[in-house]
Amino acid sequence: MKTVTIGKTVLPAIGLGTWHMGDDPRREKQEIAAIRAGLTAGAQLIDTAEMYGDGRAERLVGKALQGYAREQVYLVDKVLPANANAVRMEASLDQSLRNVGTDYFDLYLYHWRGSTPLEETVSELNRLQATGKIRHWGVSNFDRADLEELWQTPGGDQCVVNQDLYNIGERGIEYDVLPWQQAQKMPLMAYSPVAQGDTLGTQRLTNNRVLRAIAQAHQVSVFQVMLAWVIRQPGVIAIPQTSQPEHAQQNVQAGDLYLTEQELIQLQQEFPTPTQKQPLAMI
Ligand SMILES: NC(=O)c1ccc[n+]([C@@H]2O[C@H](COP(=O)([O-])OP(=O)(O)OC[C@H]3O[C@@H](n4cnc5c(N)ncnc54)[C@H](OP(=O)(O)O)[C@@H]3O)[C@@H](O)[C@H]2O)c1
Repeated sequence: MKTVTIGKTVLPAIGLGTWHMGDDPRREKQEIAAIRAGLTAGAQLIDTAEMYGDGRAERLVGKALQGYAREQVYLVDKVLPANANAVRMEASLDQSLRNVGTDYFDLYLYHWRGSTPLEETVSELNRLQATGKIRHWGVSNFDRADLEELWQTPGGDQCVVNQDLYNIGERGIEYDVLPWQQAQKMPLMAYSPVAQGDTLGTQRLTNNRVLRAIAQAHQVSVFQVMLAWVIRQPGVIAIPQTSQPEHAQQNVQAGDLYLTEQELIQLQQEFPTPTQKQPLAMI
């Protein structure tokens, strides 16, 4: 299984997303089973956020982890911009910790940039790291200029990860964000790695003939090919979300799927690398 090192922790390059989970009590049992299936298949990282269902996704994660030792999982949570300041961040973090039922997060992300000066947010993140309630911190939805500004901010170089939208249909960050992160040895956490199930738009990926042919050649699904493509490069971890146990298992297994040089060339022709700056894709 491909791995990624965040801070000093070596993790499987496929983790588990949780957006939209925990919202409907009728789906809870299946969603818990999906998270557990992902862990059983070898995933370790679970990505959640205070924003997701107003804490409902965090509480679902807490339920799914009952019976697991805390060290078995690498928990990522996110603070909303409105709480990413010296007055509110710690209370917000404490609430998230209570929701999940743990006393620390392995990684705490600034969900997206708001109006608080970056210096204040960074200083608070470093202070909270020193308390032990978070082991590391990172950012999300940062563009190249944001990352450069972060690097100029006192203590900003303690950031260990940037989480941005990245999938084979949305390669904008390859132009300037990803090269910068690679130069700094800062891993990328790719969100929406299977383009939200390719449900937006016209199934342009799931119906793509090249993706389908490659999936068939490996006897896997198009989604697994999309994931193998995202993590084909070092320093990238993907966090697909699924509410279906069998999909969770397949997604994690994509960590063992290696695309051939020829397949990567075909995919490059079908979905070319951007040749100029793109606006940062976000959802
Ligand atoms: N930092 C941010 O601002 C931000 C933004 C968005 C997302 N995220 C994080 O990234 C995670 C992933 O992104 P996402 O949820 O937007 O999109 P995604 O993971 O690209 O897509 C999720 C959708 O894909 C389907 N799917 C997943 N695996 C599949 C498989 N093997 N076969 C068939 N369908 C499959 C799921 O449906 P089924 O349930 O039917 O499998 C679900 O509807 C989120 O859950 C969240 O943790 C972060």
